[in-house]
Amino acid sequence: QSPIVRTADDLGDVLRGWRRVGLSVSLVPTMGALHAGHLDLVRRAMQLADRTCVTLFVNPTQFGPNEDFSVYPRDEHADATKLSDLGAHILYAPPTEEMYPTHSVTRVSVPQLGDLLEGEFRPGFFTGVATVVTKLLLQSLPDVAVFGEKDYQQLQVIRRMVADLFIPVRIESALTVRETDGLALSSRNAYLTAAERQVAPRLNAALRQVAAAGDAAEAERIAAQMCVELRAAGFARIDYLTVRDAETLQPWAGPSRPGRVLVAAWLGRTRLIDNVAMG
Ligand code: PAJ
Repeated sequence: QSPIVRTADDLGDVLRGWRRVGLSVSLVPTMGALHAGHLDLVRRAMQLADRTCVTLFVNPTQFGPNEDFSVYPRDEHADATKLSDLGAHILYAPPTEEMYPTHSVTRVSVPQLGDLLEGEFRPGFFTGVATVVTKLLLQSLPDVAVFGEKDYQQLQVIRRMVADLFIPVRIESALTVRETDGLALSSRNAYLTAAERQVAPRLNAALRQVAAAGDAAEAERIAAQMCVELRAAGFARIDYLTVRDAETLQPWAGPSRPGRVLVAAWLGRTRLIDNVAMG
């Protein structure tokens, strides 16, 4: 059974003990409701260090006032069982007051990178993410922290933040885990109706069509076509479907640069995101 700690002090005691005897530590931040994608991250983290800490915390500051914070799936018991089965060494599941004590006001924001794409449609989202990830990294001081490419912009924002603030941690990424029909695993897939679930894989199929384009103009043309097809298939609204520079997330200059196709779209009341590499 992986032990669960609830306070930064208890976490620090355990992790300091490990470091004192020369053991390296990896961290996997999550909001729980764990699926096979999360577990892949944990497996990777366990290969990268002697001891692995998984955090379970539904972070209120990254949800907008009209978003799904109150109904976000929570099942700590099931999560703890999955992580114990994998052999994760410690779970950190703090209450909200531990991460945001009464008088805490400080926020970490990552302008530009954090204002594009997701940031445009979810104002304040990346400030919430950057703030909580900074707190988790400082509470645990791991050698390495692992994040998924599923949330590609989040990964870039965290890399930028860690570099800008000189946070002494290595950031590693893991590939997106998908259902056999291409749908990226997400805790929010649980919101989909059976009919929506049938349509959802179209999102990844559209990305792959765009990713096959040879240059930026062709990519934009296919992306526009895919928006039409996704709407016809039942996606109510497409927040963005765009090809960006894989590092800066600015518009893609063409095959001389690594590109990334990113999408966010609504299926009924569920907002899905996905991304793939160009080429
Ligand atoms: P959460 O959505 O729980 O995701 C936790 C980690 O799992 C993230 O790094 C995410 O990219 C990764 N992940 C999610 N789905 C995946 C998939 N299908 N394949 C591979 N990895 C996947 O992202 C967050 O939580 C939060 O924003 C957090 C970073 C914990 C800060 O609150």
